Amino acid sequence: MTQKITVIRGDGIGPEIMDATLFVLGKLDTGFEYEDADAGLVALEKHGDLMPASTLESIARNKIALKSPLTTPVGGGFTSINVSLRRHFDLYANVRPAVSFPNTKSRFGDGVDLITVRENTEGAYLAEGQEVSADGETAFSGTRITRKGSERIVRYAFELARSTGRKKVTAVHKANIIKSTSGLFLAVAREVAAKYPDIEFQEMIVDNCCMQLVMRPEQFDVIVTTNLFGDIISDLCAGLVGGLGLAPGANIGENAAIFEAVHGTAPDIAGQGKANPCALLLAAAQMLDHVGQVENAERLRKAIVATLEAKDSLTGDLGGTGNTMGFAQAIASRL
Ligand code: NAI
Ligand code: MG
Repeated sequence: MTQKITVIRGDGIGPEIMDATLFVLGKLDTGFEYEDADAGLVALEKHGDLMPASTLESIARNKIALKSPLTTPVGGGFTSINVSLRRHFDLYANVRPAVSFPNTKSRFGDGVDLITVRENTEGAYLAEGQEVSADGETAFSGTRITRKGSERIVRYAFELARSTGRKKVTAVHKANIIKSTSGLFLAVAREVAAKYPDIEFQEMIVDNCCMQLVMRPEQFDVIVTTNLFGDIISDLCAGLVGGLGLAPGANIGENAAIFEAVHGTAPDIAGQGKANPCALLLAAAQMLDHVGQVENAERLRKAIVATLEAKDSLTGDLGGTGNTMGFAQAIASRL
């Protein structure tokens, strides 16, 4: 059966890394058909809209999108396109693997292999009811946590652990201090954990977790946490494995899933063939897993590792002198 994928080529280095990614995917027997849809600055210029209705319809129809980074213009009152996509499709799980790769600038050796599962729709990140007093002396921002939101994200983390053969889920919280919201999250995490006796459950306070991640990252397997903690921890984890050029992410909901690189549009190197395509390629591997093409996902990841190992055609961010498409060709040749 053919699977249609909405492809958003995006801004800055977006089109370059998307070309490279689709080139490599073209060498795998995926049965994918691609439907181009515009978003970001390019869509604003073409259609007068950062996120045209036709793009939302394409994602709603196909349920899966592969997305390059987008520019949200600063000023002019635009909401972040990524945040509005998450809201529109209720993409409640932000899933970010961090795996050590050879020959990167990571100082943490080869022991990191973890996935952060971040709640993507509620918590402190929404900053509800933000207010600054008239005299500018006091500011307020609300945090809302729900049983439903906590339950579905923790369940997602345990299901992910089970389906990928992982052994442990760590719930990260600050329930000792923020007893209401973080307390509810932790209480629900314990309830859900009880239903998965085959997976080890661990609780960790967020500040200790940050220290542990740096001291002994290899102890972690799946981390599940609320929105703002997850935002911070997942960037910390990208740093553990050598930075943004190798960090993919998925935004997953019941009715749609969007796969992307974690990095932005890199305007400083756009249009020069200098961009590392690996983050989007690794996002494509997550997408292959998501649609059940686990073998293709594994082939793709192994080809990336082998190319890094051989230091073949690496881009500048990895210390090489290669270009985006040359790197992609080197990966494709190892599939
Ligand atoms: P950025 O991630 O675009 O760039 C940070 C640094 O990393 C730059 O030096 C860049 O050259 C380098 N870099 C990023 N990706 C790279 C790659 N694949 N290969 C080699 N080097 C790479 O972050 P920045 O500069 O903060 O944001 C630039 C723009 O991207 C902004 O307009 C921002 O709004 C947008 N952005 C979009 C995101 C998305 O759509 N998911 C996420 C983050 C930022
Ligand atoms: Mg972030």
